[in-house]
Amino acid sequence: MLDILTAEIQKEAMIKVLFVCLGNICRSPAAEGLMRKHIDEAGLSGKILVESAGTSGWHVGDLPDPRMREAALRHGVILDTRAREFRAEDLSTFDYIIAMDRQNERDILALVPTGTTPHAWVQLMRSYDQEEKADDVPDPYFGGKHGFEQVYHMLNRCTKVFFDAIKETHGL
Ligand code: 4NP
Repeated sequence: MLDILTAEIQKEAMIKVLFVCLGNICRSPAAEGLMRKHIDEAGLSGKILVESAGTSGWHVGDLPDPRMREAALRHGVILDTRAREFRAEDLSTFDYIIAMDRQNERDILALVPTGTTPHAWVQLMRSYDQEEKADDVPDPYFGGKHGFEQVYHMLNRCTKVFFDAIKETHGL
């Protein structure tokens, strides 16, 4: 019982990050896996909690798209989360909500009750891209294999810059 309570208190103190895309089977689970890799490599897994979600419920319970899993695995990253739908309460639970594109951002912000400010800081993933100026992580779902590789590299560099920013902001 005490163990459960301690774990809950520990979880409460963690910095909570949620990556969001449309289906939660391509971009956001890859961002989650990459962010977790940066966190683990820095020995900070007890400090930052990472999850991902989709603004649609189309793929709830599904593993990431095999093409995304394959692209990540080629670089040694295993993606084995299950898709879940974004919910309004995520805006209170998470400290950072990182949207993969502007439509995702609009859909997230549409769930903020009028006249209120969400606890979470909602931002675009590409705002952390220091290599190329753009707003959206392109959706690779309807394209070929190359798109998944491209998205993997984009997310690798964006999550690294985001991770460094979190470390700096929170003095980790
Ligand atoms: P994601 O990609 O938003 O990066 O997970 C998509 C996955 C599935 C669909 C669209 C985008 N879909 O239309 O089913």
